[in-house]
Amino acid sequence: MSEMLRVGVLVGSTRPARRARAVAEWICAGPEAGELGLDPTVVDLEEIGLPMLAEPDPPAFGRYALEHTKAWSELVAGFDAYVLVTPEYNHSTTAVLKNALDHLYAEWQDKAVGFAGYGTGGGLRAVEHLRGITAELGMAGVGPQVALDIFEDFDDQGRCEPRARQTEARRRMLTGLARWGRSLRGLRAAPPASDGERPRLHSPVDAAEASAAVERLIETLQGGGDTTDADEYDRMFADDILWGSPYGRTLAGYEQLNEIHHTLMAKSVAPPSRFEPVQVLAPAPDVTIAHIRRRALPDGTGEPGFSEMAMYVLIKRNGTWWLAAGQNTPIADPVEGPATAGGARPGRRGR
Ligand SMILES: Cc1cc2nc3c(=O)[nH]c(=O)nc-3n(C[C@H](O)[C@H](O)[C@H](O)COP(=O)(O)O)c2cc1C
Repeated sequence: MSEMLRVGVLVGSTRPARRARAVAEWICAGPEAGELGLDPTVVDLEEIGLPMLAEPDPPAFGRYALEHTKAWSELVAGFDAYVLVTPEYNHSTTAVLKNALDHLYAEWQDKAVGFAGYGTGGGLRAVEHLRGITAELGMAGVGPQVALDIFEDFDDQGRCEPRARQTEARRRMLTGLARWGRSLRGLRAAPPASDGERPRLHSPVDAAEASAAVERLIETLQGGGDTTDADEYDRMFADDILWGSPYGRTLAGYEQLNEIHHTLMAKSVAPPSRFEPVQVLAPAPDVTIAHIRRRALPDGTGEPGFSEMAMYVLIKRNGTWWLAAGQNTPIADPVEGPATAGGARPGRRGR
């Protein structure tokens, strides 16, 4: 983990003559960011172009169906802290910024957030609303904030030319962000607190990424199985993968397993199948454990094909997820079960 704190500076307005982009650049441009160990990146919601939220599940479930949400999730998850740059629109923040926040859940949690508002009265009411919204998302809102006046801190062309005292406000806000951002990074690395002695290992912060990794694994298993392509089936297998066969054999290493899969697929041993996630756990950063069901589909012979339940361990190495271990259990009838990110308690508070 690098020492620098990665800060996403969200540009919260998108209309053609907006001021938000100039404010975000001014936040990043000062010497304070570097001095405080912050590595700021402008995240322009105009360029991101998120449509209005259209996910079938609430974001708290950490299960995203739409590609643009997955991309937004990955981008946001990569930051340690954020600055929200917002104008005041009708005594609140903008729809585009609220929509961007609403799209995700775990990615925001336990992260620090600073605010830079502007308007005819410093954007104070917009930031006040954002404080409530971000608190609900489990973010730690830094007290000192930037409040720019559109008549005093911008020139006639809408360029950000803040008065001298605003530089001090920027420093105070970023100082708070660095302090809390650094502390919360430590908190996120630790397992979530449990009620008793026994730890709860699943981290909601990592749940979305874990679910995405499992989806990718299922895509390769499904694609390889459908086309009887053993190389595609084994695409995410690590070189030293450990594999428990449904017949009790222990297989070690990609080479041995891939050879067996070539033989089995040439003989079409497995019936047409559908792979489904059952449960996903994110017990540590870059580690995912998944229970995946392979459900045999009718193949026209009238014979019931055998199904399997499999336990998989995935590890992320240099930004890529690999299958480290798997254990298959043959079953006669697939057991129904939840397809959820295990520790996320999605039903809590009716989300
Ligand atoms: C839809 C809309 C509503 C606004 N409502 C307020 C307001 O309630 N309070 C305020 O101080 N300024 C208000 N303004 C003025 C904006 O703060 C000012 O135009 C600002 O530059 C808008 O941000 P933008 O240029 O990034 O879009 C409003 C502007 C717009 C476009």
